[in-house]
Amino acid sequence: RKQCTVPSLGTLKAQGQKITMLTCYDASFAALMDRCGVDILLIGDSLGMVCQGHNSTLPVTVAEVAYHTASVARGNQSCLVVADMPFGSYSTPESAMQNAVQLIQAGAQMVKLEGGAWLAPTIKFLTERSVPVCAHLGLTPQSVHQMGGYKVQGKTSAGADLLKEDAQAVQAAGASLLVLEAIPKELGKQVTDSLAIPTIGIGAGPDCSGQVLVMHDLLGVFPGKKARFVKNFMDGQTSIDEAVKAYVSAVQDGSFPAPEHCF
Ligand code: KIV
Ligand code: NA
Repeated sequence: RKQCTVPSLGTLKAQGQKITMLTCYDASFAALMDRCGVDILLIGDSLGMVCQGHNSTLPVTVAEVAYHTASVARGNQSCLVVADMPFGSYSTPESAMQNAVQLIQAGAQMVKLEGGAWLAPTIKFLTERSVPVCAHLGLTPQSVHQMGGYKVQGKTSAGADLLKEDAQAVQAAGASLLVLEAIPKELGKQVTDSLAIPTIGIGAGPDCSGQVLVMHDLLGVFPGKKARFVKNFMDGQTSIDEAVKAYVSAVQDGSFPAPEHCF
């Protein structure tokens, strides 16, 4: 299978082909997702919730993300490997670079950070030093205390305008990918159409350049409350391989997300 690379993501968006991304935390699932045709594996700080049992992503450390990243990298051949920078690990450009080096040396090919215009100097600092960056806007789980819970973002016109400005700022600073989480589907489309870089939606509508889900949600094994944008792809399937292939097909043919998964 052809290697997914940072430049090939831009090509997929330009050709109108949807990008498929899943979270992944270990070598066996990395090999499975790779053979099922997933483009991007994300070592999300969601590991704090789905693997460690915390009620937020805040306790996760760089060392923990690096441990899971190394495991995923050993099981993977073709997927692009993206690692989350956990809470507090990118509060200055210099600390961000130090911590990103840990994740790149563990096997990540890109790092993901939550934030907009305030992060632009950090994104510029990383990308100038050859660390590819994925930004993350909308519902940013590391800001749970400031948001007062996990809530849909960008619903007011002022909130939507701010998000559009943040999206321009992260692109201008050098980000090559942007995750949009839990925003109205019209806003997901507007942001995607206004950017050159691809967007990856999770609860951001069908018009993003691609989609991402937490693998435990796709398999229906997470015991917590199910978000609106989640779909259990094990329904009607007889194996995990079939469920992951069903997700890849549904994203590629535009049937996921359906209206009931959108805001
Ligand atoms: O940590 C994570 O799994 C994520 C995705 C949901 C985008 O950030
Ligand atoms: Na995350």
